[in-house]
Amino acid sequence: MRRNPSHDRGVHHSADYAAPKRKRHIKTNHVVRLIRPTECSLLVKEMKTIIQPANKDTIRIVAELLRQGKLVAIPTETVYGLGADAKNPDAVKRIFTAKGRPANHPLIVHISDKAALNDWAIEIPELAWKLAEHFWPGPLTMVLKKHPDVPMEVTGGQNTVALRVPSHPVALSVLQAFGGGIAAPSANRFCRISPTRASHVEEELGDKVDMILDGGACQVGLESTIVDLSAAQPTLLRPGQISKSEIEEFLQVKLELPENNKQIHAPGMMEVHYAPITETFLCTQDQVKDILQGDAFQHQHKMGIASYFTKIESDLFAKIITMPNDVDGYAQCLYGTLRALDDAVLDLILIEQPPQTEEWLAVNDRLAKAAKVLTNW
Ligand code: TXA
Ligand code: MG
Repeated sequence: MRRNPSHDRGVHHSADYAAPKRKRHIKTNHVVRLIRPTECSLLVKEMKTIIQPANKDTIRIVAELLRQGKLVAIPTETVYGLGADAKNPDAVKRIFTAKGRPANHPLIVHISDKAALNDWAIEIPELAWKLAEHFWPGPLTMVLKKHPDVPMEVTGGQNTVALRVPSHPVALSVLQAFGGGIAAPSANRFCRISPTRASHVEEELGDKVDMILDGGACQVGLESTIVDLSAAQPTLLRPGQISKSEIEEFLQVKLELPENNKQIHAPGMMEVHYAPITETFLCTQDQVKDILQGDAFQHQHKMGIASYFTKIESDLFAKIITMPNDVDGYAQCLYGTLRALDDAVLDLILIEQPPQTEEWLAVNDRLAKAAKVLTNW
């Protein structure tokens, strides 16, 4: 069972960012001094590196860059997002170009408060208001019927829109300073591993964003749970930290699973996703034992491993990462681990399969997309 009460989830953040006091329901212009575009470009030029620590000044600049139709990367409690003004179709198109993402793969619009839901969606069911009240700000995305003013570029041509209020204080401050919705997919190239640190975004898209706001390491580490409430039957489109059963218990309603859905419209549901470039295999505890005994692979590969159950101290492996025991700790460092193993220039990455209980569903979903199951040796 999860330890945090749901409304506390994601409000913790990395130690390297001092959170501003949370202010809700406040109009943007009253909170932040607007800066002129010329002032902004001068400031941006002065800043040598594209990664900037999140503070009042850089948050204000990012808001201005968004108004100018530019791309910025911002931290959220799940993963870093590649943000653009969701009401500016040209800016939104730039997201697809930067990521190399097909135009029919819709984006999530981030909003500052559930009160803004009516600006983005229509025919909002009671269940959606309940979920928003309970889980926002937090790692839950809801798919609803789109408001006519939402550009088709955001929704990939669909008549639904995905919406969420993130809980990361930097994301919330940027949303309040900007005053509109921010379309933001994970800030990685298409089908690659989502970034959970500012440096990951720089590696992925450093030449394609105008600024990366550094808000430290993402606390959740996996993308948000997505629930589709646009049709009569609520459906779980993507598992995340907020689990299916938690939502079902809260709503007293059963969620359908995507397998039953004919139309797959979430790229996070594709089979290959979040994948390292190095060949990556999921293996059981027994398989790890066999490998350690030298019964497999004949030592011919330069291997790395992310272990879970097995304590490994063997020079059979060029790189060994021991994963945390608890699901939240595991999720938080999963993408960073995959990146570190990928960067180690190995022939092969092994991931020892963690438990396969409901609590681990989101982690196992991402692992299944990052790795092949190890068979036949
Ligand atoms: O945690 C997150 O959700 C992160 C942070 C940045 O907020 N964002 C994220 O975005 O993971 P992205 O683009 O990598 O994944 C968005 C997912 C995709 O699977 C997309 O298909 C789905 O949301 N989605 C967006 N709009 C949708 C819609 N109208 N109907 C169904 N799925 C939709
Ligand atoms: Mg993504």
